[in-house]
Amino acid sequence: MAGLREDIVWLEKLAPLLADLPENVRNMWHYGVTEMINNAIDHSEGTMLTVHFERTALDVEIWINDDGEGIFYRIQRLAKLYDAREAILELAKGKFTTDPANHSGEGIFFTSRAFDSFVIMSRTLNFSHMAEQGDWLIDGDRDIPGTRVLLKLDNDSQRTLNSVYAQFSEPDEFTFSKTIVPVRLARHEGEKLVSRSQAKRLVSRFEKFKTVVLDFTGVEEIGQAFADEIFRVFASSHPEVELNPLHATTEVQQMIVRALAVK
Ligand SMILES: Nc1ncnc2c1ncn2[C@@H]1O[C@H](COP(=O)(O)OP(=O)(O)OP(=O)(O)O)[C@@H](O)[C@H]1O
Ligand SMILES: [Mg+2]
Repeated sequence: MAGLREDIVWLEKLAPLLADLPENVRNMWHYGVTEMINNAIDHSEGTMLTVHFERTALDVEIWINDDGEGIFYRIQRLAKLYDAREAILELAKGKFTTDPANHSGEGIFFTSRAFDSFVIMSRTLNFSHMAEQGDWLIDGDRDIPGTRVLLKLDNDSQRTLNSVYAQFSEPDEFTFSKTIVPVRLARHEGEKLVSRSQAKRLVSRFEKFKTVVLDFTGVEEIGQAFADEIFRVFASSHPEVELNPLHATTEVQQMIVRALAVK
């Protein structure tokens, strides 16, 4: 991939195929495609990039494939994670990069939220984000070499890139200072969320944000140590970070209230 540039691939190969779409839709394609091709060039260590394009009257679907190390394994190796699945939690939080000198960890976070469907398949793991549905980790039944990113967007989508950015900034600030974290991604398969170490995995890098929304969808209950580590220990050592629980069941809410009551 030496010498390949994402802006040239966009201009020469893809922009002409999308030229008649509304401006907001073209802008999102421009952003998402160049971010994902830049990732393949800068991070994959692969030798080949393949782009698959499919357009119907309703939508456009683009696949960007590389034959490199594979995103989840690269993150596991460079960030020294115990399990490659933990890479998906880090990507879902945002501001995660394995190359902080040259990158800021925004590409996947914002691209995943700009599109109607966003899926990354790499080896046996899939990370998927569907509009309005949050992030999911799926164990795939195939072993896909390298990294494959699927982007799909309605041709008449009303979404704009600015509206996506605005969701994750404080009003009138325009900086990436807010995130929504799917709490269920902090557990390994079949686990309950009970321990301090699970909570520490969840809150790591929360201090990079002003507001963290903890989305408890899919989490029925949490344990006392887990709640205490987040809502008392982390919260008292990082008073500048606002923690907002969302979609918490009554059981989860009770544990949070209990943690907050401890002085
Ligand atoms: N195609 C890929 N192959 C291997 N690893 C990848 C690939 N794409 C992304 N990654 C890994 O995922 C991380 C997050 O990617 P993301 O695009 O969100 O942020 P970034 O590229 O580091 O920063 P930015 O996009 O803001 O320049 C990267 O730092 C890299 O470790
Ligand atoms: Mg990137």
